[in-house]
Amino acid sequence: MGRKFAALGLCLTAGLFTVSGVVFADDKKDAKIEIHEIMEKVPGKKGLCVTCATAAKAGKWEDAQKASAEMKKYGEALGKNDPPKGSKDSWAKHTKVFGETMTAIDDAAQKKDSAGVEKAAAAFGKSCKACHDAHQKK
Ligand code: HEC
Repeated sequence: MGRKFAALGLCLTAGLFTVSGVVFADDKKDAKIEIHEIMEKVPGKKGLCVTCATAAKAGKWEDAQKASAEMKKYGEALGKNDPPKGSKDSWAKHTKVFGETMTAIDDAAQKKDSAGVEKAAAAFGKSCKACHDAHQKK
């Protein structure tokens, strides 16, 4: 008898954890990162891309790697959003390139390859328009 109750207690506990886990995930932890947030963090004069490339050039690898690791995270997150405009196929292609570019920057930063960071950052800098034309609402 005692055992049965113990097992029941476990199930209940597990159930509670599941419920609270879902609520928490919905709330923030696993919530997807919005396109808007990614566009605020990665590009721009004070964005992660410039921060990373500048630090890499100056040999400040700790700073560069911190920025690039965040970029990689955003690179993985963009494609999890739905595009505000345009086809899903096209969105999948553009976000894949974006993800690969973020990963390339991070890989180069981890290897302390300043030329590699610069090359990938420059490629990113040229990729804005094509993606915006296809997917940003005017
Ligand atoms: C893979 C696609 C993609 C790439 C590459 C991309 N963007 Fe965006 N960007 C978007 C989308 C989609 C929006 C519209 C977001 C919305 O309306 O919710 C956007 C919006 C923006 C905005 C508007 C502000 C905001 O937060 O919504 C800025 C600024 C911006 N992008 C800057 C850039 C710059 C600069 C680059 C290149 C260095 C770039 N983006 C590259 C997809 C992209």
